Parts: sequence; C-alpha cells; structure tokens
Amino acid sequence: PLSGLLAGKHVLITAGGTREPLDPVRYLGNKSSGKQGVALAEAALAAGADVTLVHAPLEVPAPAGARLQPIETALELRSATLAAAASADVVIMAAAVADFRPANISTGKIKKRDDVADPVITLVRNPDILAEIVAHRAAQNQQQLIVGFAAETGDDEADARTYAQAKLRRKGCDLLVVNEVGPGETGSERVFGRDSNQVEIIALDGAGPVLAGGSKREVADAVVRVIAGRLGAP
Ligand code: C5P
Repeated sequence: PLSGLLAGKHVLITAGGTREPLDPVRYLGNKSSGKQGVALAEAALAAGADVTLVHAPLEVPAPAGARLQPIETALELRSATLAAAASADVVIMAAAVADFRPANISTGKIKKRDDVADPVITLVRNPDILAEIVAHRAAQNQQQLIVGFAAETGDDEADARTYAQAKLRRKGCDLLVVNEVGPGETGSERVFGRDSNQVEIIALDGAGPVLAGGSKREVADAVVRVIAGRLGAP
C-alpha cells in the first residue's frame, strides 16, 4: 500500500551500468542489470510520483509511466541527471557509474597488427555525479532529498558498516542504501543480476538504520517508505 505516499513529487532515478566506449564497437562496462533502479521506479510510480528514469542499457524492461531518458556513458548520465535534478524533489542514484573512462575513443575499430605494439588503454576519472547533485542542491533546493547506493565489502560486518558510514559522510547524501554482502560472497556475486537484495538504509542525520530484504521490488518499497517518511507523508 504505497498509494499516494509520493503524490505530487518528482522523483529522479538513475539505473543500469554505464558503458564507456573504446572504439565504435567496444566499451568498458560493468555487471549492473538495472533491476534495482527499475524496481525503484516502479515503486515510486506506485506511490503516485512523477518519475524520471535516466538509464543506461537495462536487462529488464523500463517501467511504463516513467519519463525515460536513455544514456550510455557516465558523462551522458551526468548531463541528463543534472538537468532533471533541477526540478526533482527526490534524487535516487541507483546507477552503477563507471569510475573511469578511456582517455581516448578510437574513431575506427582498434585492430590487431603485427607491426605495432598491442594497445594500452589509459583511463581518466569520471566525475562523481552524486557528489555534484549534493553540491547543486546547496545552491538550488535545500529541501531536495538525495539517496545514494553502495555495495560495501569489508573484512567483517563492523568493518563494512564503518566503511559505509564514511562513504555517506563523504558523499553528503541524506540516505545511503547499502547492499549487504554476505560472508564468502563478493559484492558482484551477491548484488548484480540477482532478483533479491538485502540492504541497510542509513541516514546522514543518524536516524535508523532501516533493514530491508527480499525481492528488489520489496527493497524498493522500503526505500520509498523511508523517503516518504522524510518528506512528511502520512
Ligand atoms: O563511490 P561509489 O561508486 O561506491 O558510490 C556509489 C554511489 O555513487 C551510487 O549512488 C552511484 O550511483 C554514485 N556514483 C556517482 N558517480 C560516480 C560514481 C558513483 O554518482 N562517478
């Protein structure tokens, strides 16, 4: 029963893994399926929000009813997200944004050649879009609620928690949805492409934490409830 919880609110969600081109046919990518971001969009729609979904290629269909903005690279995600954020009450950064991109994009397909050395790929850093959204909020809309995601790994649970708290403070977002990584599983095995998720929602102001688990849609519903609570919904 999410109905009406986010009525009248503009919720901006990013989803999927960015693709950073090397040449016209190749890219550096990641294992993000986009399922959690899409589930968040579905939950926000169910809660009555006006939803903008800025998305990299997805393994699942994008939800009907959302305003869709397909992108591929981190820089494209950045311009689409910063533009849409100007009118957003809530920003949820669920996309897996590449931290680096190739410094040069070859105009032609990179070829194997016996007369020249094998190519070396130089990477440059992508901007941290979540941090930029936080910086923009300060100037534009103090009321905007900003939610980040993190897949943490640590030597143990206490270690992972300390790490997540540090990331929350470093990023400066209001809420951080931390994917819990179980013992013996790496973050990518645990999180990517799966249909279920186990998260801890932590808050910059120290509220909570709220634990949620189950399908990605169940996790999304929990995130939407926490957001609605923050926005003062009943
Ligand atoms: O630092 P880390 O990549 O773990 O942070 C994850 C969070 O930051 C996610 O919400 C992700 O969407 C966001 N992010 C971003 N821009 C980047 C890297 C991550 O907005 N360049």
